[in-house]
Amino acid sequence: MARRTKVYEGKAKVLYEGPEPGTLVQYFKDEATAFNAEKRSVIDGKGVLNNRLSEFFMSGLNAIGVPTHFIRRINMREQLIRAVEIIPLEVVVRNVAAGSLSKRLGIEEGTPLPRPIVEFYYKDDALGDPLVTEEHIIAFGWASQQDLDDMVQLALRVNDFLSGVMLGVGIKLVDFKIEIGRIWEGDFQRLIVADEISPDSCRLWDMRTGQKLDKDVFRRDLGNLAEAYTEVAARLGVLPSNGKAMTKPTLVN
Ligand code: TMP
Repeated sequence: MARRTKVYEGKAKVLYEGPEPGTLVQYFKDEATAFNAEKRSVIDGKGVLNNRLSEFFMSGLNAIGVPTHFIRRINMREQLIRAVEIIPLEVVVRNVAAGSLSKRLGIEEGTPLPRPIVEFYYKDDALGDPLVTEEHIIAFGWASQQDLDDMVQLALRVNDFLSGVMLGVGIKLVDFKIEIGRIWEGDFQRLIVADEISPDSCRLWDMRTGQKLDKDVFRRDLGNLAEAYTEVAARLGVLPSNGKAMTKPTLVN
């Protein structure tokens, strides 16, 4: 049997060559890292949960006409995606002050923001993914003005969709990060949502209790990360019908 070709390995996922040109297989690992991998651990079942949750969010976005790389889930840990040229920026949308915004500007965590704020971070581990402005992005050629306008539009549409879905299950979408990729259709390029959307890349707070249901549980040692992600999956109805909280998920295909 031929061994498949690994295209890229990141902190939480591996990309393999896909079955057809223009596709990749995205494998979700159980590794959790924070603070640029200074803190790391293996969380049993995290990859399974994130594969399923990213499928849920990305297919929901596809269904309302927000283009994403997601094609279909293959199994518990893998999904088929479109290969894209990743723009080297992390696009963060914030609805409520938290994390680095609170730290940088001295705004108390939990303060609602007057409008969603879109930020860009340059993807460079050696530099610790610094915050950059549109001026930097254009001057250094990471994206064009048109790309930037399209990225902000995409990010805000993702924010509307995700906020609504989470609101429906009693969870506040505080902020999230997406990555965006280019695909080429003949001479035209289109930008689509890529990477993953999961509790690894969002801040999710229970609306009633304020309980954190995202990777801050790991970053800040607040409890059991798999339990928090299982709670999100259960509320969204993406667990098997018994809906039992599981630290070792036994999700079925
Ligand atoms: P921040 O407050 O630390 O800047 O994070 C903003 C959002 O981006 C939060 O939802 C977590 C997410 N995020 C990532 O997905 N990857 C990262 O490397 C960082 C720093 C944040």
